Amino acid sequence: MRVLVLGANGQLGSDLVRTSVSEFEVISHKRKDWDIRNNSTSYLEKIGPDIIINTTAFHNTEKCEERPSDAFEVNSDAVRKLAEYCKSRNIVLMHVSTDWVFDGKAKSPYLESSKVGAINTYGESKLGGEEAIRACHDSHYIVRISSVFGESGVGGRGNNFVYTMINKGLDGKEIRVVDDIVMSPTYTLDAAETIWSILAEKRDFGVYHANNSGECSWFEFTKSIIKKIGVDTNVVPINHTSFPTIAERPMFSAMASEKNTCGRSWERALSDFLESIE
Ligand SMILES: NC(=O)c1ccc[n+]([C@@H]2O[C@H](COP(=O)([O-])OP(=O)(O)OC[C@H]3O[C@@H](n4cnc5c(N)ncnc54)[C@H](OP(=O)(O)O)[C@@H]3O)[C@@H](O)[C@H]2O)c1
Repeated sequence: MRVLVLGANGQLGSDLVRTSVSEFEVISHKRKDWDIRNNSTSYLEKIGPDIIINTTAFHNTEKCEERPSDAFEVNSDAVRKLAEYCKSRNIVLMHVSTDWVFDGKAKSPYLESSKVGAINTYGESKLGGEEAIRACHDSHYIVRISSVFGESGVGGRGNNFVYTMINKGLDGKEIRVVDDIVMSPTYTLDAAETIWSILAEKRDFGVYHANNSGECSWFEFTKSIIKKIGVDTNVVPINHTSFPTIAERPMFSAMASEKNTCGRSWERALSDFLESIE
């Protein structure tokens, strides 16, 4: 089976390539090979995949508010065209989505069957992508992840929330982090393994949650990072209103799985990640 990984130099994409299983022949795509907004499908024709895993996205939430048409172009319109192409060629589409398709008003973790309802442009545009796939192509998986950390960093550029907190921790200056927004962290290595097993086991098509298990506030997550790297930098909890943002953020976007696809606890995943980058 030929599997094309779109966005293979990103955080999740690079770990998908690293963890691929032998029954799949993996082809790594980078933006320079083909911009997914491009209407020409000759790149896809040349590859001739059986499965496409789409990890690409425009996911800078503040920029999505400033440039909504760009957000919808990448996260909704290009995904709809990709789904139409997959349908026309009988290709299985594995699409990666986000916890921000939810409104953040829940009191317990969102499940695959929970009602969606995004509250900002990034979330609405990703939800648009999910809905476009559901409307046109049955042979699809939508895998939602959240608050991602992986070795390569965003876009392979070596930066993400965990790296930022490590640097601040080593710097020794007090770190102020919001304690009233709760989420479920996702280690890309674990999410990648989940994606491969969904494909290898030929699970039923549909939505899956592939974050690590459990939930925490950004403050708790940061405290854990600082403790695990063994520095005594002070971490101070603050209210989200102290960090004004253009995009409204879901206050509670933790996810769990009714299909048993969430990974080990986020604490264990974080420990392994920190060890791997030492
Ligand atoms: N990061 C998070 O915290 C988070 C949370 C929830 C869900 N997700 C979802 O998880 C998926 C993977 O996230 P990630 O953190 O691995 O992202 P990432 O590191 O930014 O990787 C995405 C890759 O897609 C490429 N790309 C973006 N727009 C493209 C386009 N128009 N044409 C071709 N390639 C394009 C990027 O290339 P460039 O580097 O050149 O831009 C990048 O290599 C995304 O679908 C995202 O919505 C992420």
